[in-house]
Amino acid sequence: MISSQIGPTMPPVRPILRLLFALCLLPTACNKTEPAGTDSGKPKQMIKPSEFSQSGPDTYSFAEPENVFTTHLELDLDVSFESKVITGTATHTIEKKKPESPFVVDTRDLKITKVTQSNNGKDFQEASFTLGKPDTVRGSSLTIETSKDATAVRIQYETAPSASALQWLTPQQTADKKQPFLFTQSQSIHARSWVPLQDTPSVRITYDAKVTVPKGLLALMSAENPQKLSGDGAYSFKMKQAIPPYLLALAVGDLRFEPLGKRAGVYAEPSVIKKAAKEFEDTEKMITATEGLYGPYVWERYDIIVLPPSFPFGGMENPRLTFATPTILAGDKSLVSLVAHELAHSWSGNLVTNATWRDFWLNEGFTTYVERRIQEALYGAQQAEMEALIGFRELEEELKELPEAQQALFIEVDDESPDTLITGVPYEKGALFLRQLEKAFGRKAFDAFLQNYFTTHAFKSITTKDFVAFLDKELLAKNPEAAKTIPLKEWLTASGLPKDPSLPQTDALTAVEKEVAALTEHSNPKLELLSYPSWNTHERLHFLRSLPEKSPQTLLSALDKQFNLSTSQNSEVLNQWLTMCAYAKYEPCYPYVEKFLKNIGRTKFLRPLYGALLETGQKDLATRLFKESKASYHPLSVAAIERLFEKMTQQEASTLNRLLNKMRS
Ligand code: BES
Ligand code: ZN
Repeated sequence: MISSQIGPTMPPVRPILRLLFALCLLPTACNKTEPAGTDSGKPKQMIKPSEFSQSGPDTYSFAEPENVFTTHLELDLDVSFESKVITGTATHTIEKKKPESPFVVDTRDLKITKVTQSNNGKDFQEASFTLGKPDTVRGSSLTIETSKDATAVRIQYETAPSASALQWLTPQQTADKKQPFLFTQSQSIHARSWVPLQDTPSVRITYDAKVTVPKGLLALMSAENPQKLSGDGAYSFKMKQAIPPYLLALAVGDLRFEPLGKRAGVYAEPSVIKKAAKEFEDTEKMITATEGLYGPYVWERYDIIVLPPSFPFGGMENPRLTFATPTILAGDKSLVSLVAHELAHSWSGNLVTNATWRDFWLNEGFTTYVERRIQEALYGAQQAEMEALIGFRELEEELKELPEAQQALFIEVDDESPDTLITGVPYEKGALFLRQLEKAFGRKAFDAFLQNYFTTHAFKSITTKDFVAFLDKELLAKNPEAAKTIPLKEWLTASGLPKDPSLPQTDALTAVEKEVAALTEHSNPKLELLSYPSWNTHERLHFLRSLPEKSPQTLLSALDKQFNLSTSQNSEVLNQWLTMCAYAKYEPCYPYVEKFLKNIGRTKFLRPLYGALLETGQKDLATRLFKESKASYHPLSVAAIERLFEKMTQQEASTLNRLLNKMRS
């Protein structure tokens, strides 16, 4: 570790509360967690897989699919940019396990105007319904009284302009600034804000949709998609494979299509399409490589849509149509691991789905592992290891600050929105767990196991408990010696990391660390001697993250001059650099910080930047920038940043209290 040589280093995502923890004078009052990769001498928790008994219903949904469930959904929707509202009907084909039971669906801020039911799918009669009291996390239940022989229910409804899954963009907020844009983000529990449905990943549905949009705009869904504009703004979609509701998606905008291969293509605004096609030119190869590892790609087409920069995530694995941020268009394919990631979800997540959000690691941990295998197949083991190590370092930093309850792969808590479960734990700790299994059982056996896992559970939603039972039967039991080396319960339920996880290794990053050490030894370092110009994006990121936490402003100024960091075209490098500048209160960078915050809405980038400002006493600046940029952020990004401000205020209050109490005593 380099930290012992050159003091504290710049973490990837600066934990916002570190300074406040440092102020915490009474060590026993501080919430301490085990640092990653260490062992406190506790015995390894070895359990028999049968002892892993946690599971249960999806507490984030009001639906009762065990009584009545949807098998197919038919949408008939009209999209109005003027009123920022989607109106239409959702017709559910239902199956009843308990004929007496009502049909219960989830909604959030929906206006329900009429509900009808049918027992032949053609003739519909009015049905009575009750909309439950809204819950801030879950929304409102919609309970529909249906006759015993009902086979279909039609709900006529309207969305709210503030619907949590929808972002309505003005032309000004798009790349080309000519036409408005709309996109949905249903994961985790936001589908219910644009469609009344059983919003739990334990249910799977096929769907058809008719969508009308203003003439001149293209509509796309997570389904069979058009490649050209329709003359009248009317589009029809069909999704014949059963998907969980969080994969329901719609995008509407001034979009062009460009093929990337026989089953892959890209959609983007006219000014972005060529650049996007170049960046993603390896997509078809990625599909073939993944098929070689885990079996056929079952979704027929794999297209990518590049969204405007306010898209709150890096990517979203909507089936047949990955949604992606434009911030990965670096011009050199250096950030395409995101495509590998979203493509990997075609197996882990979309084909085999987490049954509840507490099993989220089954989606993201497997996907992060598969993503690295795809990267390895296309760009070599060195590249994949470098990405894995960068991911591990990010996890290490995050674990230092994360509440213990959020450090386990299987999450016990369910009182907050599942959006708060998006941490490095399900991703990187999940991937490390699978890496350890690979190492213990050998790549050949583990690859066969994974392929078997995907085939056996295809189009099913499973819990961590189901996974453990399968793991036991198909891998552990076949090699008891290797099984002994896997502290299964610790991986799944404990905080921190088990001792000796199989960590990624690469010399490339060690070489970067050596240059940092040499650099920080000198009072007047020669920056022109650094290998920075020849480093790839990951080496550059690692370089910046390895610099001392309190880099003097003179060093920052010299670095910027030498490497033009403030005008970097690489969003990851730029975000890391600007975050460092914000920490150091290096004001010459502030115009770039402001420009970044006003143009980009990707939560992953906003959080560290606002966090840096808040943590270093620049709350007024953070507040002003948030106020001025908020209108262009997605509701989910706004909520994430508001949580950050709130946390800060709570921490300030409790630190103050603690100090006052100490002074009094
Ligand atoms: N499915 C996730 C995004 C997500 C997770 C949205 C939970 C809402 C709730 C997607 O596959 C993802 O993981 N995206 C990452 C990119 C990835 C390369 C780590 C992102 O957006 O940063
Ligand atoms: Zn993912």
